[in-house]
Amino acid sequence: MEAIKLESVSVSFGNFLALDNVSISLGTGKLLAVVGPNGAGKTTLLKIMAGIIKPSSGKVALFGMMPAEYRKKNRIGYLAQQQNLNINLPLTVGDVVYMNLAEIKGIGKNKKRGMVDEALHNVGMHEKKEKIFAHLSGGERQRVMIAGAIANMPKILFLDEPSTGVDIVNQDDFYNFLSHLARKHNITIVMVTHDIGVISDYVDEIACLNRKLYIHDKAENIDMDEAMQKLYGKTGKIITHKPDNKSCFRCPFKDFNLKGLQ
Ligand SMILES: Nc1ncnc2c1ncn2[C@@H]1O[C@H](COP(=O)(O)OP(=O)(O)O)[C@@H](O)[C@H]1O
Ligand SMILES: [Mg+2]
Repeated sequence: MEAIKLESVSVSFGNFLALDNVSISLGTGKLLAVVGPNGAGKTTLLKIMAGIIKPSSGKVALFGMMPAEYRKKNRIGYLAQQQNLNINLPLTVGDVVYMNLAEIKGIGKNKKRGMVDEALHNVGMHEKKEKIFAHLSGGERQRVMIAGAIANMPKILFLDEPSTGVDIVNQDDFYNFLSHLARKHNITIVMVTHDIGVISDYVDEIACLNRKLYIHDKAENIDMDEAMQKLYGKTGKIITHKPDNKSCFRCPFKDFNLKGLQ
């Protein structure tokens, strides 16, 4: 079944057309990467899919339901772009992840604590569970935020530039982890990313967005050089980065284990 379906979605902010007639559909358990320049409407697209904002015109459906309706009974995971990770409160890492579960009804505290533990294991941060979140490095905080987004075992996960701006982790391990979530656990994932050089090995589909949707296809069908030229223009220089495994001091996503998601 289609997990996410957008039909002719447009979004205006005042006179500004941020998304222009975008149609996308994504099957259950697929991993879609959304790429495009700054201001292309990537974050807006994610918010539309998640039901955080409503389209000016067009239709959005999650498993056939309007997002607001879907979210009444189902959980989604959402990692916002560049969150203010400098929370200046004496919260522990465990507290920060737990906050994502606080509002979920029908699950006891003990079970929620187990979900927090598992999510932290999956991002390699469990040993820091009792540490003060504010004392962590930027990359460690981002990993904790990712744990927060997956802790509630969502069927749909939205990640807005999860690896940008911080030395998050070895990218290959991180993308392997996401691809495992999608393939083995049937979680539908939409991720905004700039890691153009590495994603096509891991994702199922790629959407190239610059207000309009230029291309949306299976990753193997897309010539990224051509796509980038369309998106960024001929003069745009694309810097891609393939990390060197050897320089990675640890690879926390390697030994992920998702027993709670079976
Ligand atoms: N709430 C808003 N009000 C007005 N303009 C907005 C709002 N949200 C986004 N925009 C504008 O829409 C455009 C697309 O934004 P965004 O979706 O954040 O792009 P991206 O994530 O691709 O960088 C930008 O020009 C941005 O300034
Ligand atoms: Mg954005």
